[in-house]
Amino acid sequence: MSESQIWDAVDEYFTTHLCHDDEALRAALRDSEAARLPPVNVTATQGKFLQLLAQFQGARAILEIGTLGGYSTIWLARALPADGRLVTLEYAPKHAEVASRNIARAGLDTLVDLRVGAALESLPQLADENPPPFDLVFIDADKANNAHYLEWALRLTRAGSLIVVDNVVRGGRVTEADSAAPDVRGTRAAIELIGSHPRLAGTAIQTVGSKGYDGFALARVLD
Ligand code: SAH
Ligand code: DHB
Ligand code: MG
Repeated sequence: MSESQIWDAVDEYFTTHLCHDDEALRAALRDSEAARLPPVNVTATQGKFLQLLAQFQGARAILEIGTLGGYSTIWLARALPADGRLVTLEYAPKHAEVASRNIARAGLDTLVDLRVGAALESLPQLADENPPPFDLVFIDADKANNAHYLEWALRLTRAGSLIVVDNVVRGGRVTEADSAAPDVRGTRAAIELIGSHPRLAGTAIQTVGSKGYDGFALARVLD
């Protein structure tokens, strides 16, 4: 077996025994694929990881930047109490349309507030509404803006909130200090902001799995 075949097999084993996906999650992936959305959703093991993090946080309010077909949204929203709230921001109207159906089929449309538009336009609008602080923020949109999203996350959270940034490794390209690639530059800016900001304590964890070699950054908001 090649290395990536092993990662696939292990993900499959963990998914079968630990992640218990159901018809709503499977249908969300099926319809995302049928609509030709890019297959870059989190894996089931990662979705369950995000759900557990939200539960560890006792999250009542979650902010997601980058909805795609709503697969990660479903995992996260299921961590919420009945009167919880998840705001998810998506740029592409087609992605949002698919997500909206997937979220409704999962019975989560009363909890999920899906907003279509560039996140850097939706975030100031959201802040103007003075929402109660978000307990968890999942940043998973255009990587070029990761540091900007982190700044907005700081404005919309409280001491003790958790910020998760997806895709911080990208096969190792994050180490390319001279890279001109906007995603690498944006992710490096986010990592360096986490490391230098007085109100953040964080780390990053490399992962392998059926999506290849990548990783998450995790940051706790301080007083
Ligand atoms: N969180 C999803 C995957 C998100 S993929 C999951 O795991 O299931 C990244 C998404 O970010 C794409 O749907 C893309 O259209 C969206 N995106 C890209 N640029 C954006 C922007 N400026 N504002 C909001 N969303 C954006
Ligand atoms: C891409 C985006 C993601 O959010 C991800 O998890 C993997 C890949 C991408 O745009 O290539
Ligand atoms: Mg991602």
